[in-house]
Amino acid sequence: MSITFEKSQNTFYLDGKGVTYALYINEVGYPCHMYFGAEITHDGLRHTRGVGRTSRTATPPGMDVGKYSYQNYLPEYAFFGTGDFREPAVVVENSTGDRICDLLYDSYEILPEKPAIVGMPSMRGGETLVIHLRDKISNIGADLYYTVYDDCSVIARRAVIRNYGDTACRLHRAYSFSMGLPGQDYNITTLHGGWACERNMETIPMHHGVVSVDSKRCSSSDTLSPFMGIFPSTTSEHLGDAYGVCLIYSSSFVLTAEGVVSGDTVITGGINDFNFTWKLEAGESLETPEALIAFSDEGIGGMSRAFHDAYRNHLINPRFVNQSRPIVINNWEATYMDFDTDKLKAIVDSVAGTGIDTFVLDDGWFRVRDDEFCSLGDWKVNGNKLVGGLKAIVEYVHSKEMRFGLWFEPEMVSEDSDLFREHPDYAIGMPTRERCYTRHQFVLDITREDVRDYIVNTVNSVIRDNNIDYVKWDCNRHVTDVYSVGREADRQAEFAHRYALGLYDLCERIVNANPNVFFEGCSSGGARFDGGILYYFPQIWTSDNSDAEDRTRIQYSTSLIYPLSSMSCHISTVPNHQNNRVTKMSTRADIAHLGATGYELDTTKLSAEEIENIGKQVEEYKQTEELILRGDLYRIDNPFESNFFTEMVVSKDKSEAILCAYRRQTNANPEIKRIRLSGLDKRKMYRIAERDITASGATLMNAGMVIHFPNEDYISVVYHIREI
Ligand code: DGJ
Repeated sequence: MSITFEKSQNTFYLDGKGVTYALYINEVGYPCHMYFGAEITHDGLRHTRGVGRTSRTATPPGMDVGKYSYQNYLPEYAFFGTGDFREPAVVVENSTGDRICDLLYDSYEILPEKPAIVGMPSMRGGETLVIHLRDKISNIGADLYYTVYDDCSVIARRAVIRNYGDTACRLHRAYSFSMGLPGQDYNITTLHGGWACERNMETIPMHHGVVSVDSKRCSSSDTLSPFMGIFPSTTSEHLGDAYGVCLIYSSSFVLTAEGVVSGDTVITGGINDFNFTWKLEAGESLETPEALIAFSDEGIGGMSRAFHDAYRNHLINPRFVNQSRPIVINNWEATYMDFDTDKLKAIVDSVAGTGIDTFVLDDGWFRVRDDEFCSLGDWKVNGNKLVGGLKAIVEYVHSKEMRFGLWFEPEMVSEDSDLFREHPDYAIGMPTRERCYTRHQFVLDITREDVRDYIVNTVNSVIRDNNIDYVKWDCNRHVTDVYSVGREADRQAEFAHRYALGLYDLCERIVNANPNVFFEGCSSGGARFDGGILYYFPQIWTSDNSDAEDRTRIQYSTSLIYPLSSMSCHISTVPNHQNNRVTKMSTRADIAHLGATGYELDTTKLSAEEIENIGKQVEEYKQTEELILRGDLYRIDNPFESNFFTEMVVSKDKSEAILCAYRRQTNANPEIKRIRLSGLDKRKMYRIAERDITASGATLMNAGMVIHFPNEDYISVVYHIREI
């Protein structure tokens, strides 16, 4: 890992694990993109610069008309107002009302360790280049941060926009980065979805003009995820160059890829500029969220592994990232809100001896919450349901040597709650308008410090006073009626970003105050699955849909970006509560074991044999948990495109792997399913005990093997592969 400035070439080279990123300062003073891809030597990249495309672009002052063209340079941070008509990363309204901006190179610094972003999550560590840009007339500046790592093939990018002037200005756009890619022969893969069908993969060819994904709901990933895969059309899961961009951000975002007139592609994004204006007073600055850009020449799978290493080594809380995860029994699908202490104790008793080590009490434990209509915000126990209070059930669970987890929805308030009756202004919305409901609840205005103080104090007291070991932090609706009581009119359009800052402040003050508590993120399933949340919470409930068949797609696409250990995957009952499908327990377990596993069903209704079976599943999971925590994922069959879902997880030293293969539908005369294994060491010899196979990695990865599926629908098999 190193960052070098080659003075003779006016070029910065950033070398990370297997990758090089190069940019140079051109003759005008603009930082221009030269290269991002597999590691190269520092030979100068003049021969890669564009020539010729002058097509009626503006000429910066001092340059030869007709000789200089913006089209011949790919921007590192495009800006609006002078001669660049490509998607800008920043749009500034100066105090004079004009929106002219000309950010020229001023100086650079190389920092041995990346400074954290104050108030926002970001990658930890890494050598960092900071390029300082400045507009000499308006006195607006931008600092571009680039960080590289020696253990993952990503570059972290962000910008800080500064007002060096003595009057306020307004930012109408403040993205985190721009980056050029040569040519346009790319497929763009994005993730779309909704409740119980999160993160479906969609791929379209790049074209001239803009392709974008965004959120306008102050949350990251219900419908579209803050991710874009940019894959040359010849790239596959296993071969070829693959770029991926994701944002470490949990509020309204945008990512765009623009096919520009030079025939190249420019990627940019960050805070969504829709309904966004940020007032920057004299001397103030705005930090933008961090973008993570991964590259691999080992196909889409290689890009995912680069992201997984980055998330595990530098983003997810180091205290928990590699720690054995709680094996949870959650009462939600067992009881919904209809429970009492005896019922909960019976669930706990029923799993004794299975290895399940954590009981999570979900929604419905507080105030008079028997349905979705009330009590959010009133974090006081419902003494009718929980006789003896929370303490009694917590102590009972602890006496069984299990940990106790509790559900909260800290950002929410019900209209029918003491909190709302006392403080109606705490809820987002205009006092003069009726607010929209979602799930009969409102969102608290966490952009306000007093509201955050209330949440921090009440949630922290419940955690501390009751010895809670695990918190499931839910968020079941998005922000509408954007209006913050008390905030100046000309700052109302700062709301979405301030919501993110408020959320991160809550996380800091609740997570840090309870360093031994394990936090799980959740948002009506996986509607807020992003790097910002993963910075605080080591795992996230992936979807309310725990049907094994649907989960193959949800988990496959989630793994494009996020490591397996970050996905909570529960084994639930059949018929499945979301889609009524019936699948075998073994299939549900095999798919749920490709993540942080747990259970979510009424175990008091299971037979002794079924409970014993759970014990065996937990034991099996424990044997391969190390792979889920630290291994490399190799996806083999894509369930979006085929009747199969096959994944392998291989240890870093390639001495051990598991293979999970799943077939959706069989028929009277099923096809022979052959696969080539992936990720093994071709020189090592392996044993697959389940099939009595002994073969080299070379044989298994080239000649492959046939999977023996029982002749049933929704069926899976798991093989353990060990070096001998
Ligand atoms: C949505 C979550 O995804 C569920 O797991 C459950 O916690 C409910 N909310 C509770 O209201």
